[in-house]
Amino acid sequence: MPSASTQERLTVIADTSGVHTNDLAREVEAGLSSSPKTLPCRFFYDKDGSVLFEQICELPEYYVTRTEKEILDDRADEIATLLPKATTLVELGSGSSTKTRVLIEAFLRRHGSLRYVPMDISRTMLEESSIALLEDYAGLQITAIAAEYKAGLQRLEKVQPPAKLVLWLGSTIGNFDRGEAARFLRSVSHTMRPQDRLLAGIDLRKDRSTLVRAYDDGAGVTAQFNRNILHRINRELDAEIDTSAFEHEARYDENLGRVEMHLVSNREQNVRIGALELEVSFDKGETIHTECSYKYSIEEIEELAARSDLCVVERWFDDARRFSLNLFRGKTD
Ligand code: TRP
Repeated sequence: MPSASTQERLTVIADTSGVHTNDLAREVEAGLSSSPKTLPCRFFYDKDGSVLFEQICELPEYYVTRTEKEILDDRADEIATLLPKATTLVELGSGSSTKTRVLIEAFLRRHGSLRYVPMDISRTMLEESSIALLEDYAGLQITAIAAEYKAGLQRLEKVQPPAKLVLWLGSTIGNFDRGEAARFLRSVSHTMRPQDRLLAGIDLRKDRSTLVRAYDDGAGVTAQFNRNILHRINRELDAEIDTSAFEHEARYDENLGRVEMHLVSNREQNVRIGALELEVSFDKGETIHTECSYKYSIEEIEELAARSDLCVVERWFDDARRFSLNLFRGKTD
């Protein structure tokens, strides 16, 4: 009876202080009234956005997922040996948990059973992927937390497993600016006890054309993903934005070491957002800045660790050295 035992091994905690329509309304109003215009990237990941992001991960140009997977495939058993028995695997922004499977398998091989705590803002994605995992792995227990990072971490502190490995994969850290990344990692580090570890996938600085292609693919999936935020505003805030009047653009700023995602208005236009009783005007060529993806050099990773009260235990790369997987411990001195 796989389904009955599956239910018994699953607990779902939904943190209601997560994303609300109110947040969306407030932030859209603030972002579209500022100059230059911005929209916050955390609103990308509704149900449609999460599905599109899974498609991005499969794109030939998007090396991020493949290179990280390559490292995990090579190192999962080694990572499992570096952690004590009864380690709980916690994952920030777990999405479909596809990449995590190799680690789950390595821990199950070594220890026979495992508790996994995936956290994600998409509750649907979280529940679907948890059930799929439980059906595949009999030794697994899941406590799924549907929340934003901050609320999720607070929940976790109440649980305090004997030892934990916190996973933060996919270079999501790159979507924070360097100061925010350090502050956030410091808050993670402060939940870590001596036996705990953090495993973070961090994308590396590299040539411009590889980076730009990764965020502006030939099939146009990334463009669709970026535009999804406009569809979401149409759906949830009673707006009538003509999404085809906005072009997706990825730019690399080498000084700042970041890829920027923009939606560029291809004509002069006014956009009405009903729920906000707001009309926003755009010049032709004016952009909405939707996201940054920061890239790191090794020195920048070391600097980040120092600012976050973390120490690097191990670092692994893919063969072409495009991506890094970093195992950290908290600073004890
Ligand atoms: N964490 C991913 C990254 O920065 C998110 C991402 C990939 C993304 N492609 C995107 C975000 C396109 C916005 C638009 O690599």
